[in-house]
Amino acid sequence: MEDFIRGIPKAELHVHLEGTLEPEHIFALAERNNVALAYKTPAQVIAAYDFHDLPSFLTIYYAAMSVLQTEQDFYELAYHYFQRAHEDNIVYVEPFFDPQGHTTRGIAFETIIKGIHRAQLDAEKNLGIESNLIMCFLRDMSAESAMAHLEMCLPFKDWIIGVGLDSDEKDNPPIKFTEVFARARNEGFKLTMHCDVNQTDIVDHIWQCLDDIQVDRIDHGINALEDERLCAEIAKRGLGLTVCPVSNRFVVQSLTTKEIKSMLQRGMKATINSDDPGYFRAYLTDNFLALIEEAEFSQDEIRQLNANAFETSWLSAARKKHYLEQVNNFS
Ligand code: HPA
Ligand code: ZN
Repeated sequence: MEDFIRGIPKAELHVHLEGTLEPEHIFALAERNNVALAYKTPAQVIAAYDFHDLPSFLTIYYAAMSVLQTEQDFYELAYHYFQRAHEDNIVYVEPFFDPQGHTTRGIAFETIIKGIHRAQLDAEKNLGIESNLIMCFLRDMSAESAMAHLEMCLPFKDWIIGVGLDSDEKDNPPIKFTEVFARARNEGFKLTMHCDVNQTDIVDHIWQCLDDIQVDRIDHGINALEDERLCAEIAKRGLGLTVCPVSNRFVVQSLTTKEIKSMLQRGMKATINSDDPGYFRAYLTDNFLALIEEAEFSQDEIRQLNANAFETSWLSAARKKHYLEQVNNFS
């Protein structure tokens, strides 16, 4: 089973590039860019990763971003992730990036996206990993700021496949961004939003994603299981749900294996993802291995979870078919 999990070709649809910053890399970049850190060693950094809910994670996540300053820094951030993803037999990725985490520190949008884009080209050429980028808006910032960043990205439109919504969900519902996402759809972007685990009003937030925003996918979305009609609608629309088991364990003390199985039984397209692997200390294969440690999953269920990721990705029909053949023939 472990060999099967390691070897099967994988797609990852929920990974924040800034969340792949490894402690050693934080130190190297801090030194290169003359940024003072509150820690003396990478081990001390890891010891400080005491997350128990979304805000406690986000505080550390945003603080570490200050080491990212030049185009080369963003290139290395993304390229390191692709190298690590390659070890997990990931062949396709739709990674997130958080431009507002950087523009608010005076970094130009162009610096960020050019570094990431160059890493994507090199990953495809050197590692055979295909990828399409998703730009996330920070939901605890204003809708005006989100709209300004949507406009900022338009000269680079061909380098971005979709837009997402992340950061602190409390009092920041999807409908705060209805206009921004409508404009994004008109510009040709695919739409997704975080519906993080156990947030206040989370079932309402998921309904808003369906009714008001008309998302093409849902990030996390575990709490949909509290509403039968919502589950049926998600299944009917064939919407992917990007579940992040180890990330969930930090926030809600559960890998949500029961919920993942329940989604599969209802025909909901659950997928497995790493979210912020540099912080949660678990990449994609580790997430699958954690699942089988906690619960019984058959090879067919693992295959299904991987197939769901390719099916609900934003690849062309031809590319999906190409990858799905690899997943279905793998043994
Ligand atoms: N939820 C919300 N915001 C985030 C996350 C997450 O899982 N990861 C990075 N930013
Ligand atoms: Zn996330």
